[in-house]
Amino acid sequence: MNLVFLGPAGSGKGTQAKKLEADFGVVQISTGDLLRDAVRMGTELGQQADPLMKQGKLVPDDLVVGIIEERFQRGGLEKGFLLDGFPRTLPQAEALDGMLERNGLKIDKVLSLEVPEELLYERITGRRSCPKCGTVYHVSNAPPKRMGFCDVEGEPLVQRSDDSPEKLANRLEVFRTEIPKVKEHYARMGLLAEIHGVGTPDGIYTEIRKALGR
Ligand code: AP5
Ligand code: MG
Repeated sequence: MNLVFLGPAGSGKGTQAKKLEADFGVVQISTGDLLRDAVRMGTELGQQADPLMKQGKLVPDDLVVGIIEERFQRGGLEKGFLLDGFPRTLPQAEALDGMLERNGLKIDKVLSLEVPEELLYERITGRRSCPKCGTVYHVSNAPPKRMGFCDVEGEPLVQRSDDSPEKLANRLEVFRTEIPKVKEHYARMGLLAEIHGVGTPDGIYTEIRKALGR
């Protein structure tokens, strides 16, 4: 099962990806997570991406396409993959088509998580995560057992540098400009499924499974 998740910041791509990973063994490939790793490690890619990500702007297409290409080459995707946050532009979608063809792969479904913008501010500003294991929490929707600390690692939780209301406004603006073209591309291919992304994470997951027929 090879999937793509489209959806604005805070729409729940990461949250739902973890559920699909646990139930079906598909591998989550999040360009945001891979870029943040590169920033932490201080690689050349990380140095190029860091200022753009901090402002909520897109990283250039050739860089993210390169990350995906590299990930496909590493393998281990026999049970399938789930692209979280890629493609985000039409050129990225077209580059992905080419990559899949070269690797003898195909996308089974493109899931677009639809969430009204006013809900995204609350989700994004309340998000906290563990710097060690990456577990994601929300101060009110999904709080840790001990406020401010990871349930798994006991580490103090941190907030992403792009999770302020100002940066979120930039991220949503970019999303509004680019994503309609990506959605049209996949609708033409008959792969697009729009998912109502409001409600509990489990309720939304049920909708996703229905769309996948699983
Ligand atoms: P990325 O990391 O992908 O960020 P994003 O797209 O803005 O999405 P988020 O990770 O913020 O949200 P999410 O949908 O995963 O939500 P989550 O499940 O965590 O990208 C970051 C940056 O990297 C980009 O801005 C760009 O600079 C760069 N980049 C990445 N990919 C790129 C590309 N392809 N091209 C160019 N640049 C790229 O949920 C959010 C919060 O809400 C959590 O606290 C969660 O607990 C809570 N929550 C989840 N579901 C629910 C629910 N149903 N009800 C209530 N709360 C919920
Ligand atoms: Mg995410």
